[in-house]
Amino acid sequence: MKLVSRALLPLLLLSAPFSAAMEPISMGIAVGVATALTGLLSTFPTLYCRLQECCQAHWVELNFTGLKVDLEDKLFGQHIAKQVVLKAVRGFLMNPNPKKPLALSLHGWTGTGKNLISKIIAESIYRKGLESDYVHQFVSTLHFPHPEYLSQYKEQLQKWIRGNVTLCGRSMFIFDEMDKMQAGLIDSIKPYLDYYDNIDGVVYRNAIFIFLSNAGGERITEITLDFWQKGNKREAIHLKDLESKVSIGVFNNKKSGFWHTSLIDKNLIDYFVPFLPLEYKHVKLCVREELKMRGYEEDEQIMTEIADEMTYFPENEKIYSDKGCKTVATKLDFYL
Ligand SMILES: *[C@@H]1O[C@H](CO)[C@@H](O)[C@H](O)[C@H]1NC(C)=O
Ligand SMILES: *[C@@H]1O[C@H](CO)[C@@H](O)[C@H](O)[C@H]1NC(C)=O
Repeated sequence: MKLVSRALLPLLLLSAPFSAAMEPISMGIAVGVATALTGLLSTFPTLYCRLQECCQAHWVELNFTGLKVDLEDKLFGQHIAKQVVLKAVRGFLMNPNPKKPLALSLHGWTGTGKNLISKIIAESIYRKGLESDYVHQFVSTLHFPHPEYLSQYKEQLQKWIRGNVTLCGRSMFIFDEMDKMQAGLIDSIKPYLDYYDNIDGVVYRNAIFIFLSNAGGERITEITLDFWQKGNKREAIHLKDLESKVSIGVFNNKKSGFWHTSLIDKNLIDYFVPFLPLEYKHVKLCVREELKMRGYEEDEQIMTEIADEMTYFPENEKIYSDKGCKTVATKLDFYL
């Protein structure tokens, strides 16, 4: 309405001396309405994207502070994963012209925080987090269960990735249970991870790929235990102590899903992110975080009882929780 009156005002003033003639006024109205309509239409996409998720800032934009705070507050016992993810995500998202998509490969024992970190990354980039239309999760046993359909799966996966990256360059793809994925399937997405400017006009360089796998978990645990037995602090373990060993282990492990794939061969994975086995004290922190998330006060007794319920390995030392923090949430249900 504002637009109409503002556009009409000068025309009305101009036409005042010719008050007998109606023509200029109706013309003025027509011009005013046209101006108003154009104004409305030009604001429409903005208005639409205010209400509805769009592939642009406001909806898709890194909140680095948020990422840092969440990693600090919600992820326990993973000093290496924290560092690597902060560096990788910031470096990639701040780069206006990356040469290839970001590919992270997360490795470690079950319940150590691989899914959690994917969620935290998604939430730091997409306002709607995992619920975003631009975040896609694939679980091997769920999406690609039948070996005999390998060629269909390959085709479908390529089509999905192409389609979704066409819709939004900053798309994120999470592949869970890589160790249960058929060898070969992941090779079909190799071109999208490579250093190409574009493929058939579609630019994949801003996309993010995250692979989750238990593969390498045993090796990581061995190395962590070795540090512990030598009396070293867990925090003294560095990425370089693990990275090459994990990557070689994954490459040679028939069950890793990456087995002999050209992803590793051609260095298309940017970062191997190791997740260390969790100790008793980390399990307690997981309980505390879960209590907080559900709106309860910190409760030392519940924290201790749940941590006591978990089983720990190796047999003699009993330092690492064999399910990490995985069952904390369900165990907590019994207490509340
Ligand atoms: C970024 O994250 C911080 C910490 O979680 C939060 O306080 C802030 O509101 C977020 N900023 C935006 C723009 O969402
Ligand atoms: C995007 O990916 C989803 C699977 O997560 C798929 O169902 C959908 O068809 C894809 N969209 C396009 C346009 O390809």
